[in-house]
Amino acid sequence: MAKPIRIALIHGSIREGRFCDTIVRWAAREIDNHDAFELDIVDPSPLFPPPTDEPPIESAAIDIQRRLHRADAFLVATPEYNHSFSAPLKHLLDSVYGVWQAKPVAFISYGGVSGGLRAVEQLRLVFAELHTATIRQVVSFPNAPEQFDQQGYPREPERAARNLAKLLAQLGWWAKALRQARQEEAYASVS
Ligand SMILES: Cc1cc2nc3c(=O)[nH]c(=O)nc-3n(C[C@H](O)[C@H](O)[C@H](O)COP(=O)(O)O)c2cc1C
Repeated sequence: MAKPIRIALIHGSIREGRFCDTIVRWAAREIDNHDAFELDIVDPSPLFPPPTDEPPIESAAIDIQRRLHRADAFLVATPEYNHSFSAPLKHLLDSVYGVWQAKPVAFISYGGVSGGLRAVEQLRLVFAELHTATIRQVVSFPNAPEQFDQQGYPREPERAARNLAKLLAQLGWWAKALRQARQEEAYASVS
């Protein structure tokens, strides 16, 4: 069997009580059904400890950097805040170096009426600067809390699973192609 594609599934919110947990848990359950993928859930929260705690920021950053470096592909679960993505997600993208280049990125978005799609469009610009390839297929949940039941399961599970499967097929295709390309020639030679 081919080596599994390592996906880093990234929390786009660190807010207390974040809906992001529901989205990430659902995506993780679905991805577990696909043999082609190996999942690592990356939560940027440790980069932002409460001010009273001893700040383990450096070790948290090193841990996150190492895990993102190992990933073949990224899947970002992003909310929309004021027509954009969250500041903590931007901080993650700005502060972790050397892990993004020549890898594909896909998005699951959620929020109010726009389903987080405006955040995704802005993230595409940022990820282009990081030398990544963003995937066309997006799984979007408008008015997200209405789309999930109390246990955190989508009210239309087949549709959500179908959309995610299409996203994973595209992400997997690009991840395989780019992994091969990185092995043949380090992207650093052209970046
Ligand atoms: C500061 C703030 C700004 C928001 N702005 C938007 C917005 O512009 N468009 C939208 O659709 N939803 C907006 N929302 C709704 C969020 O997308 C929604 O509450 C989402 O669940 C937030 O993600 P989280 O719970 O994982 O932090 C906003 C929420 C907050 C807290």
